[in-house]
Amino acid sequence: MSFTRAFLFFLIIGLWGNQTQAQNSEWWKHTSVYQIYPRSYKDSDGDGIGDLKGIISKLDYIKSLGVETIWFSPFYQSPQGDFGYDISDYRHADEDYGSNQDIDALIEAVHDRGMKIVFDLVLNHTSIEHKWFKESSSSRDNPKSDWYIWSDGQGKKPPNNWINVFNKDAWHYMPERDQWYYTAFLDFQPDLNWRNPEVKEAMFDIVRYWLGKGVDGFRLDIFNCIMEDENLSDNPFKFKILPSKDAMKARFQEKTMNINHPDNIALAKELRAVIDEFENPERFLVGEAIGPPTAIKPLLGDNQDGLNLVFLFDMVYFDFKAGFFRDLITEFEEDFPEPLMPTIVFGNHDQFRSMKRLDNSLEKAKLLALFQMTLRGVPVVYYGEEIGMQNADIKKKDALDPISHVFNGLPQFLRNWLPVPVNRDVCRTPMQWDTTAHAGFTSENAQPWLPISDGAEERNVAVQNAEENSLLNTYRELLDLRNSTDAFSKGSMSVVGKKEFPKNLLAYYREFEGEKYLILLNFSKKTQSIELGAETYKMIYGIGQEDAIKGKQANISGLGGLVLKIEEH
Ligand code: GLC
Ligand code: MG
Repeated sequence: MSFTRAFLFFLIIGLWGNQTQAQNSEWWKHTSVYQIYPRSYKDSDGDGIGDLKGIISKLDYIKSLGVETIWFSPFYQSPQGDFGYDISDYRHADEDYGSNQDIDALIEAVHDRGMKIVFDLVLNHTSIEHKWFKESSSSRDNPKSDWYIWSDGQGKKPPNNWINVFNKDAWHYMPERDQWYYTAFLDFQPDLNWRNPEVKEAMFDIVRYWLGKGVDGFRLDIFNCIMEDENLSDNPFKFKILPSKDAMKARFQEKTMNINHPDNIALAKELRAVIDEFENPERFLVGEAIGPPTAIKPLLGDNQDGLNLVFLFDMVYFDFKAGFFRDLITEFEEDFPEPLMPTIVFGNHDQFRSMKRLDNSLEKAKLLALFQMTLRGVPVVYYGEEIGMQNADIKKKDALDPISHVFNGLPQFLRNWLPVPVNRDVCRTPMQWDTTAHAGFTSENAQPWLPISDGAEERNVAVQNAEENSLLNTYRELLDLRNSTDAFSKGSMSVVGKKEFPKNLLAYYREFEGEKYLILLNFSKKTQSIELGAETYKMIYGIGQEDAIKGKQANISGLGGLVLKIEEH
């Protein structure tokens, strides 16, 4: 073989090899995620706080759901000012949750079950209790003096006009340095200075430390706030006083200098390169990045070289209406087409539980689950969603959430009116396991850190395990369907336009390698009927359905859903 021929031969083999590798990998694109808030999942030692050993004891339950990946909200060392999102040591478990041996055991136990494990990474800020901040704030000339965002004030005033994500003042004066530090979030969560290469290296090493222990990926906390304008310039004026859905504008400014900064994109790529140092298995990053698609989509990189996935928050604020969902998934398909993948999220530890938008109806929740598991996108289930856990009713004076304290002055009627909970305790109550004391979350004599939500007598794992048609078993069936049908986890999707079928009916096709399905979801209380095409339609799954197909007609009962397999003649 001549040199050129040999070269070509190896080039072709090499390219082919790369391609097969790409096909086999990207498991994260087709996975399903279950989010655990460790403080609230299962308490093993009777202190009323959930812990790692408790979680380990419930892994078989999680496996039984059919989800592949578990994402854990932070359990690192923390003064718990923001219940773990204020980290004082990124390499150690907080004693509330257990020890590093427990973390190792957790990673192993998850992997033993063929599942994946995702940690939460709070890169934007540390706790004020972190030794880095203690050192940084002690003087202007210590070795870590430039690890956070420090600046002189303007006379007695803060360095510039920046406001934080709550539209409150973002600068805080420290007499030790006669300077101000910046916080995108709460006052005790100082933002790190990511323009300092030492900060980057220290954090990347932490990332490598956990990847080395086998962690399969990270959820990146408020990634949209990570970089700020290098010169700390003022935010530009905007004629907008009150906050709205557009989180970028309020108090007469647009937060372009400190939120959704374009430099976040380069950092996303650097982080991707760090996790790509680890192969077999491939790892992934999912970003919490709140903002318009124009700001968050670039985080994925033009060549899929940024974050692997981003959470999409518009779905969280859904109206239970076919039209709302039709518009939104059409938008998702436009903004995140192959090879990108959307995420399908209805709630998390910062939002009202989706039950609020479902009028606490378990029937509606089944339809929503059918929707979630048959869409193109990575489904993310927040713990308790699978049993229909409700938002707790917790009085303002009893709130533990620091955000509730920030907004202490806000009258109750305004609190109720906002789309997000001012007191996030409402969605963080203990997981409901059975009908024993404290819903089986902790021992009888213990005091759970938050109260048990209403409805726990019916909405718990033991009761719903035993009930064939329960929401819990519906989730299991649907995840099973998704796991066994490539069309749902990997296939293409086409959404049926609003004029084709009755308007309360949402319909879409899924297809993979010639296998085709039609999904029909009836968001109204009345039966909806449609004429089917010439192909053969076989019902493979139904919610609230018996004889859904009569000849060429499909009848979808009120709040019912159908999955039909289409066979060409
Ligand atoms: C994210 C977390 C939230 C936390 C905040 C600050 O939004 O989801 O729970 O309070 O970041 O870290
Ligand atoms: Mg920042």
